[in-house]
Amino acid sequence: MSSPQAQGLVELPDSHRGAITLGDPAYHRDPADVFSELRRAYGPVAPVLLDGQVPAWLVLGHRELIQVTTDTALFARNVARWRLREQIPAEWPLWPMVGGGPAGASLLYTEGDEHRQRAGAVSRALAGIDPVEVRAQCEAYAEDLVESLAHRGHAELMAQYALLLPVMVMGWALGVPGDENEALVAAATDQLAGGDRALAGHQHLHRTMQALVRRVRERPGADVASRLAADPVGLSDEQLCQDLIVTIVAGHQTTAYWMGNAIHRMLIDPRHTDAFVRGRLAVSQALREVLWDDTPTAIFAGRWTSRPAHLGHVTIPAGDLVLLGLAAANRDPHLRPEPGVGMRGSRAYLSYSHGPHSCPDPARDAAETIVTAGIEVLLDRLPDLHLACPPEQVGWAPTVWMRGLESLPVDFTPTPPTIRYAGGTPWI
Ligand code: HEM
Repeated sequence: MSSPQAQGLVELPDSHRGAITLGDPAYHRDPADVFSELRRAYGPVAPVLLDGQVPAWLVLGHRELIQVTTDTALFARNVARWRLREQIPAEWPLWPMVGGGPAGASLLYTEGDEHRQRAGAVSRALAGIDPVEVRAQCEAYAEDLVESLAHRGHAELMAQYALLLPVMVMGWALGVPGDENEALVAAATDQLAGGDRALAGHQHLHRTMQALVRRVRERPGADVASRLAADPVGLSDEQLCQDLIVTIVAGHQTTAYWMGNAIHRMLIDPRHTDAFVRGRLAVSQALREVLWDDTPTAIFAGRWTSRPAHLGHVTIPAGDLVLLGLAAANRDPHLRPEPGVGMRGSRAYLSYSHGPHSCPDPARDAAETIVTAGIEVLLDRLPDLHLACPPEQVGWAPTVWMRGLESLPVDFTPTPPTIRYAGGTPWI
């Protein structure tokens, strides 16, 4: 072991001396470049540092990522296995995304039978969403949002559209009252950004879901929260609350950034413009290409080794943090010798991760419905949409975990408001 680093929270092992820090300016400029550099330097598994010089292992190889996500006994999910856990202060801004807070009580960090049961319950509750109804809700919310900006001729599509639509739809699906959604969006955004407001954002989400749990225990309805509360698995109030937080957070920014990345591509890449506007490529196929090449889920945390693990060219000691390099694995040159080519029809991307802990199928379906409806309504109402700034000025959100746009300014021909017979959503 070397001596503690000047600003490091923990003593740095020799394996991580000189390692790059994820989330530094170079990473935010172009994470794909950083992943390629790491692959060249270390192969499919690289030592990396997180905020506060916290060491971790980033899995960049597609095959290695399948191995990590499949072998849940060796690459386990419970944050209590992390040998550095006690040394990292509760204020560490990355805690909410790495361990769900020091308590780590959500389904994300459970293992074995407990995980199977809780993930099964969440999946069943989500599978109860009626696909026709959710599509109709997506369209209605999307129409409301477009209506609120169509007369202006200018919009910032992340804040005014892509970041709102998924949380509106998922808030509705879960059973959150509509007038709480705006604050919910802000809280989820703060939490993922990992900055000063991350913990406050996490606390706000917690309070909102506690209120939802109280409501569904007293007056169950036809929503995801009520179905989850009634599931035979018998979740406690706190477990229910935690699993609802996971569902809204996992479904919010992932879906918003997927939509944003797809619209962005469409605006800067003529082939994608063809796909969406002129229907030359099915929207679902174009969206799949975005998952391959521009996945919103860059890195997911994480797994912890239950014993020393041989992976790629390294041996990872027991109790170390392993990060899933989902975006890097999608571009693994062993899988795709020519980046951007040949994977159109395939769903072997790891954007949703893989194995027992991966994104539940009904959640993937809901996400695709939200993104597809969001893009279709937008293009239908604002067909001459174009970027309002040079492409190089479009900035990326400052998070290690996600790849999504900080803002997406667009111009279009203003259209007068349509006559409406029913009220829109309360925050417009
Ligand atoms: C309506 C939208 C969505 C919902 C409700 C949702 C829900 C969930 C839930 C409940 C989990 C936890 C699964 C478990 O631990 O067993 C999860 C995990 C995950 N989801 Fe989703 N999700 C949504 C959209 C997305 C999208 C669009 C992506 C990326 C393209 C994504 C990527 C992931 C990843 C990477 C994980 C973690 C997998 C792991 O630990 O291996 N999700 N999601």
